[in-house]
Amino acid sequence: MDIHIETERLRIRALSENDLDGMFALDSDPRVHTYLGNTPITHKEEALYYIKDVNTQYAERGIGRWAVELKETGDFIGWCGLRLYTDYAFNNHTNFHDIGYRLRPEFWGKGYATEASKACLQYAWNGLKLDTVYGITEKGNEASHNVLLKIGLTYVEDFYYAPYKMELRWYAISKPE
Ligand SMILES: CC(C)(COP(=O)(O)OP(=O)(O)OC[C@H]1O[C@@H](n2cnc3c(N)ncnc32)[C@H](O)[C@@H]1OP(=O)(O)O)[C@@H](O)C(=O)NCCC(=O)NCCS
Repeated sequence: MDIHIETERLRIRALSENDLDGMFALDSDPRVHTYLGNTPITHKEEALYYIKDVNTQYAERGIGRWAVELKETGDFIGWCGLRLYTDYAFNNHTNFHDIGYRLRPEFWGKGYATEASKACLQYAWNGLKLDTVYGITEKGNEASHNVLLKIGLTYVEDFYYAPYKMELRWYAISKPE
């Protein structure tokens, strides 16, 4: 997928197999998984599977999560961006775009998720011409809750996600006039 977005401190680009080590560092860290309803990965093959799956989404749906790196050092710090859900129903929605992010803990608390996500929302409106973007967090994930509010989403309601037996929160934002 041909994507290149620059913010003040970040470069946002397509996720590729070159990110394997960074993706493994990200997803094997238990701190990252506190609210994701899953457990840390233990093998690089699992990170590779995720990268391939995202690349399939680029090809089939025209969108998928993107890699985020620091402009200053080139460090891979995690991923962010839009996902088109066609395969799962959340809160009675199917075929919707959600905004998400997952960063390595050493890069938390510096405003990077907010900075990256704001740029992704601009792409949602101006690049993808979307009318609405949704957000989902687990109840208690205050970091994620705060990111969504900071970039302009509105908290709508809580809902129960039966497949994971999780209480989740649902957010939405419409394209600004
Ligand atoms: C969610 C996540 C991406 C946030 O990344 P981040 O770069 O640290 O977020 P930001 O620095 O942009 O912070 C955004 C706001 O949330 C607040 N915040 C950050 N961590 C917080 C925490 N643990 N508790 C409460 N508020 C928090 C920040 O203070 C900031 O608000 P402020 O600017 O008013 O102070 C990161 O914590 C992460 O990767 N978590 C693991 C994966 C995950 O849970 N992803 C989301 C799934 S829904």
